[in-house]
Amino acid sequence: MSAATSPTASPSEASKLAAFDALIAENQRIEPSDWMPEAYRKTLVRQMSQHAHSEIIGMQPEGNWITRAPSLKRKAILMAKVQDEAGHGLYLYSATETLGITRDEMLDQLHTGKAKYSSIFNYLAPSWADMGSIGWLVDGAAIANQVPLCRASYGPYGRAMVRICKEESFHQRQGFEILLALMNGTEAQQRMAQESVDRWYAPALMMFGPPDAESPNSQQSMAWKIKRFSNDDLRQRFVDMIVPQAEFLGVTLPDPDLRWNEDRGHYDFGELDWDEFYAVLRGSGQANALRLAKRRAAHDEGAWVREAARAYAERAASSERLAS
Ligand SMILES: [Fe+2]
Ligand SMILES: [Fe+2]
Repeated sequence: MSAATSPTASPSEASKLAAFDALIAENQRIEPSDWMPEAYRKTLVRQMSQHAHSEIIGMQPEGNWITRAPSLKRKAILMAKVQDEAGHGLYLYSATETLGITRDEMLDQLHTGKAKYSSIFNYLAPSWADMGSIGWLVDGAAIANQVPLCRASYGPYGRAMVRICKEESFHQRQGFEILLALMNGTEAQQRMAQESVDRWYAPALMMFGPPDAESPNSQQSMAWKIKRFSNDDLRQRFVDMIVPQAEFLGVTLPDPDLRWNEDRGHYDFGELDWDEFYAVLRGSGQANALRLAKRRAAHDEGAWVREAARAYAERAASSERLAS
């Protein structure tokens, strides 16, 4: 139901809602100083902060491989990629702060387990080939999800996504290229690549969220033009994109039901294990506890940096006052 039709809205609220609805209908952007319905603000705070949390938790599985990357070149690429993810987190925390929540509050929600992040990062990455699969499939799914978000109705979110998407496409290519090198390598390297793709394929497809019929909030997000395509549409788009890429790599996607459907003009694919998805979301994934413990430790170890930055800002402000 549109907030504009809410029977509890007062006359002045009703006119504000009408102005908001008109902006959305005209594909205009909502900016931080604009009036917005509380439910719209809350939805954005939840989605954008979860997105920010996913970026910084997502640094862990790959950060763990920086010291073990097989060459100087691979190490430099992986380091740049992990730093990009930190940057994505920072843009998104800043964009979310425009909605009236502080970074401390958001981090507190993450550290106490109140806020979620993408469940894909609760899987372990035990082999070097996982750096390839994560880039190709996980960053690939992220791009499919995020390109439409560049047109999200909330201005600071859409604008942050433009740069993020450019960097994500580098992430996907570097992952693809890792797998390509392995597939052109020895038999053992080819097996390593295939084994890794076998583990990441289904979880990557689940990154788009539950099927549309089980995703009741999606419709409201689409009406507000935060989300532009449904979970199932995005998942289909992703499958259609990766099948030819898998053929080029020479890896097999682990789904016996995967085949081209001439009538639909899309690939059909098999049922996903949603019980696993919900179990990981509830906390029983391979690495839920590990990811959160590491994040909390990193936050505690960084306390001196935040204190130093605060002290520096205070001193800079007071010397500015003296000078004026
Ligand atoms: Fe990212
Ligand atoms: Fe990425």
